[in-house]
Amino acid sequence: MAEQSRWAQGGERNLGYGRRFAELVESGADVDGEARLADALVGRRARVLDAGSGMGRVAAYLQGRGHRVVAAEPDPRLVEQSRRTYPEVEVLTSDILGLTDEVLDAAGAPTEFDLVVCVGNVITFVAEGTEVAVLRRLGELLAPGGRLLVGFHLQGGPETARRLTPEEFAAEVAEAGLVVDHRFGGYDLRPVDDLYAVWVLRAAR
Ligand SMILES: C[S@@+](CC[C@H](N)C(=O)[O-])C[C@H]1O[C@@H](n2cnc3c(N)ncnc32)[C@H](O)[C@@H]1O
Repeated sequence: MAEQSRWAQGGERNLGYGRRFAELVESGADVDGEARLADALVGRRARVLDAGSGMGRVAAYLQGRGHRVVAAEPDPRLVEQSRRTYPEVEVLTSDILGLTDEVLDAAGAPTEFDLVVCVGNVITFVAEGTEVAVLRRLGELLAPGGRLLVGFHLQGGPETARRLTPEEFAAEVAEAGLVVDHRFGGYDLRPVDDLYAVWVLRAAR
């Protein structure tokens, strides 16, 4: 049997994410910082994959901006929350490695994207041993000239996530055939710091 993701292993301990964002959306708080940067990375009416889309906030914003968005999320509780909160957003119940061309085709989705978004610590929650394969698959899903936006905590992140240093991540990126175009300290493009890391990557090919 395939290894469970760190997210799935976290079980009930990860329920706070969905609850917190439900409250933030309800209160009218700004939950779109990641999506605003994503929107700035592409032209209009772009093909965007939100890989590990969670409760759907990033996908919903980008779809609202006119992009062709595919959201993919493996946790059925979050798929349900996403469909309830943002019924207009198409969500595939799949993890990243399950997003084969056949699966995307069967869903009527594009098989290559101008932008793949993988934010909110997704990359630190994938199953142990799949880290490079996941990055490689995300790279394969990029259209020529396409880019991959990744963000995760360096400190103070979720307790069930993997601790990942910038150096470790950069090595995995290279092994997966990707290149770092930019690193920032946040989605507002603040300078690099040791709290959070935002990366813009592209395929080396
Ligand atoms: C903290 S949530 C962030 C969700 C969303 N990206 C956001 O920023 O609101 C972490 C997400 O990583 C997802 N995840 C973990 N492993 C994954 C994998 N291999 N493929 C896709 N998503 C994965 C979980 O299901 C969960 O939705």
